[in-house]
Amino acid sequence: MEHLLKLSDLSAKEINDVLNLADQLKYESKHGIAHKKLKGKTLGMIFQKSSTRTRVSFEAGMYQLGGQALFLNSGDLQLGRGEPISDTARVLSRYLDAVMIRTFKQSDVEDLARFGTIPIINGLTDYAHPCQVLADLMTIREQKGSLKNLKLCYVGDGNNMANSLIVGCVKMGMRISLACPKGYYPDEKLVEWAGREGNIEITQELFKAAADADAVYTDVWASMGQEGEAETRKKAFKGYQVDRKLMEYAKSGAIVLHCLPAHRGEEISAEIMDDYAPVIFEEAENRLHAQKAILIKLLTGVDK
Ligand code: CP
Ligand code: NVA
Repeated sequence: MEHLLKLSDLSAKEINDVLNLADQLKYESKHGIAHKKLKGKTLGMIFQKSSTRTRVSFEAGMYQLGGQALFLNSGDLQLGRGEPISDTARVLSRYLDAVMIRTFKQSDVEDLARFGTIPIINGLTDYAHPCQVLADLMTIREQKGSLKNLKLCYVGDGNNMANSLIVGCVKMGMRISLACPKGYYPDEKLVEWAGREGNIEITQELFKAAADADAVYTDVWASMGQEGEAETRKKAFKGYQVDRKLMEYAKSGAIVLHCLPAHRGEEISAEIMDDYAPVIFEEAENRLHAQKAILIKLLTGVDK
């Protein structure tokens, strides 16, 4: 693994290796076993959008591994005043050991990797959220024992989460069904790829998508950067909610996942947030373990 730009760059084996290392790190941290594997290493974290989980879990993760993280608000960087990403990449490569970036355009993440000489991690773009999906796969495996042949149902916007979940599920041999309103389907090319490689269904009917699901997933109706569309989206997504009625269609014992932040009463009911809080917040915790695994793989040369 050289970078983590999007999940489709990783093989099934690489994903499995990250999940196994994440499980091991979680076990060890619960048992007081610390690793200072990244002593002396520095991660730069560029944020062009808000964040709670990504920022804090990367920062804490670097600290726990003996390294340090620098929070770089893009508004305070020359990047925010028009310095090209190509120059930023070349400069930061001379100070840092890796960069995590949360931004709008996927091409900016790819350009950082192209012009820089250090590992780049995608901390969310409009197109993908690979770190989140690695934590999601870790959580599903933890809860269900394995991933193969499980069915994940995704309800809502065909956004960055939907795109990355499609890739994660297909790569791990899972089935995925998505219930999205017309006009809000996931990336067309990814859907075509998933149709060739695996088992994907896209429908506008929620109950059909949820039938027999082992895990039900949802995300906000309006993502960061889409605030101006919030009212239009509220109308378009009306009814696309994970609630107790929908969960009657899923398999008994099915889990509910949400990348968070959640909007109770929109994509998820308050009752479901309460019913499934233990697994949803475990999922949030797993961001830390999964990202520590990613950092170790990228920064220590393991599997390079
Ligand atoms: N799920 C997630 O990425 O959360 P943040 O936006 O808080 O980082
Ligand atoms: N789709 C959401 C995910 C947040 C973690 C967004 O991009 O805002």
